[in-house]
Amino acid sequence: MLKLYMANTKEESGYFMRTFYPNEEFNNIITPIISNEEYQKTKDCIHHGMNRYDHMVRVAYYSYLVTKFCHLNYVQTTRGAVLHDFFLDEYDEKKAHTLVNHPKIALENSLKYFELSDLEQDIIKAHMFPIGKNLPRYLESWIVNIVDDLASFYERSYVLKENMSLACSMVVFLFLTFFKRW
Ligand SMILES: [Fe+2]
Ligand SMILES: [Fe+2]
Repeated sequence: MLKLYMANTKEESGYFMRTFYPNEEFNNIITPIISNEEYQKTKDCIHHGMNRYDHMVRVAYYSYLVTKFCHLNYVQTTRGAVLHDFFLDEYDEKKAHTLVNHPKIALENSLKYFELSDLEQDIIKAHMFPIGKNLPRYLESWIVNIVDDLASFYERSYVLKENMSLACSMVVFLFLTFFKRW
């Protein structure tokens, strides 16, 4: 049976994809959040075929770069972005998995552990617009919304590519095995 590519841990996905960002300022902004014990559990959550922790850090990094370049509030943008999908599957299996509800769950969860500004809350709440009903109220929220879409597309394409190459290898293997018999 074919085993689909699915990275469960940071180590596993890190083997295939870049998950370390050598930027001291960025790392200083996210460290108080990512070192939280509950946040660390997102490494075990499957997200776009990879893990949720890597996805959130990826979105935070590129949001940081764009907002810093544009002289916007990049510190709060990075904090909001790194929390935008902060929920564990165990909280509410059904609700958490719906495209519409998870920003609300992520916001409630984030507020349990961190103090968040209005901008940071808006980034989390509105990151699924237009699927979610919350319209982004800040330019920074729009940026995270777009970066999240691009990151999701990149991650899904990557997983698809991995699975396709695995499937092709299997077909070639079966083909060769079949013809060897003749
Ligand atoms: Fe999300
Ligand atoms: Fe996301």
